[in-house]
Amino acid sequence: MPVILGIESSCDETSASVCVDGRILSNVIANQTIHEAYGGVVPELASRVHQQNIVPAVQQALLNAKVNKNDIDAVAFTRGPGLLGSLLVGVSFAKAFALAKNLPLIDINHMQAHILAHFIGDHNPSFPFLCLTVSGGHTQIVLVKDYFDMEVIGQTLDDAAGEAMDKTSKILGLPYPGGPLIDKYARQGNPEAYAFPEPQIPGLDFSFSGLKTAILYFIRDNVAQNPDFISQNLPDICASVEKRIATILLNKLQKAAQAHGIKQIALAGGVSANTGLREGLQALCAKNGWESFIPKMEYCTDNAAMIAIAGYYKYLKGEFAGQEIAPLARMIF
Ligand code: KG4
Ligand code: ZN
Repeated sequence: MPVILGIESSCDETSASVCVDGRILSNVIANQTIHEAYGGVVPELASRVHQQNIVPAVQQALLNAKVNKNDIDAVAFTRGPGLLGSLLVGVSFAKAFALAKNLPLIDINHMQAHILAHFIGDHNPSFPFLCLTVSGGHTQIVLVKDYFDMEVIGQTLDDAAGEAMDKTSKILGLPYPGGPLIDKYARQGNPEAYAFPEPQIPGLDFSFSGLKTAILYFIRDNVAQNPDFISQNLPDICASVEKRIATILLNKLQKAAQAHGIKQIALAGGVSANTGLREGLQALCAKNGWESFIPKMEYCTDNAAMIAIAGYYKYLKGEFAGQEIAPLARMIF
């Protein structure tokens, strides 16, 4: 019955979670609202706030799980990818805690953890499955052969899908992070109102920079003719942008599933919280007779439960890190 403490601090969420024998008993997430004023995450501010939040987050996670700190068997932490200053806070905390309690350390790849969040709870995919991992920094189609045997078979050549959401919201004058706001306004709009281009990228790769430019010019030209264009048409603009981003993602996912003969398809990463994408994947899977796996909302955006569950599977494999381990801003599978 291993008890794993999971720590996540790769970007602007400080999170701690307790996993007992593969079941998540707590998942405390301290959001950093300070970045809203700057229109994006300010790395140094993020590190400082992690520093303030990490001990209370861990204490709360232990309290919620009704677990004593002396009962922990291992500490799992996000090694990367992410902001180096943010990662350093979580890695240093994990090391100090493990050193003080003489516990093993487990290093976790944040992107793998987003995928392994599908093993929280009872509705789990079976190997091999495909996972579309879409976050603020990544857009990948991953062939998941085993818990820690994953192959990226398609990825973005420039911007990530979440970046496209966030940059669009910035163009529209909405606050950061824009993805959830685009989702909110899109629910009241017509997704067919405006046609944005679908990039023609060969294979399973993606590109979102052309779409971003197309949106920028579209807004600029319309605002030149009508200064109230955005406020008068916000739901339709958001619905049309969301639809285009979702279809770009789902068309490639369909191609990947057909090419690899895979019938189990999962979504992961912050953008998997998006309503249009979630509904689109369900429709695609229903049409093709595939099974879809969509994480619960609290496990879509950054959280330590996914680190703790990944830590649990690494613990079972007996794979531990040494005290000399360093965080990595860039990290592949
Ligand atoms: O995985 P995540 O929490 O952090 C990274 O590792 O990047 O993903 C954050 C991204 C942001 O771009 C945010 O705008 C987007 O996920 N996001 C959404 C929604 N919720 C979060 N995008 C669209 N619709 C949402 N509901
Ligand atoms: Zn993430």
